[in-house]
Amino acid sequence: MKFFLDTAVVEEIREVHSLGLLSGVTTNPSLIASSGRVFEEVLAEITSFVEGPVSGEVMAPNHEGMIEEGESLAKIAPNLNVKLPMTLEGLKAVSHFANKGIQTNVTLIFSANQALMAARAGATFVSPFLGRLDDISYDGVELIQQIRDIFDIHGLDTQIIAASVRHPIHVTQAALAGADIATLPYKILTQMVNHPLTTQGIAKFEADWKNAKSK
Ligand code: E4P
Repeated sequence: MKFFLDTAVVEEIREVHSLGLLSGVTTNPSLIASSGRVFEEVLAEITSFVEGPVSGEVMAPNHEGMIEEGESLAKIAPNLNVKLPMTLEGLKAVSHFANKGIQTNVTLIFSANQALMAARAGATFVSPFLGRLDDISYDGVELIQQIRDIFDIHGLDTQIIAASVRHPIHVTQAALAGADIATLPYKILTQMVNHPLTTQGIAKFEADWKNAKSK
């Protein structure tokens, strides 16, 4: 499973990029709004140093508007993919972009049938939302397992992005369920580095090293 970062904060992306494990970035309108920056400018800056796929989401309610917005976004950089909502209009736009060789990420996926339809329309990525399903007492991880099974049974190469990840255990579960990618908030990715025994172990090695040197 690869790691994407789910943020529009460029400093966070630069920091994780320097770790050498960043395979891409997802943004959404809420994340762009909270960055306080201009949409196209943020996407241009992110795609200037992130080599992997970067998602920019369209806001139009109909496929004509989605296509217009998406085509303009796709001009920002070759690694920019168009993020579209899981609606009939969104699927029409996915099909349009697939025919033009432009990558897409179908977002707000909450059922296996939605993922299957998006894949059949030609989506490059589907984004099932783990946390938001858990919030309403459904099992987000089980959804990823179902989508994995369906894509494997039917030979679909659409990649599964585990989205709406709320804690490190979600990440392990998504990896075991067969997600191709997990898109993570910066806080969760950095939390995953830590373990109390690692911290204790470093402190003990430092103390033993100092003791040995002072003898
Ligand atoms: C995914 O592409 C979305 O941007 C994101 O993961 C949504 O997460 P949330 O449910 O925490 O807002």
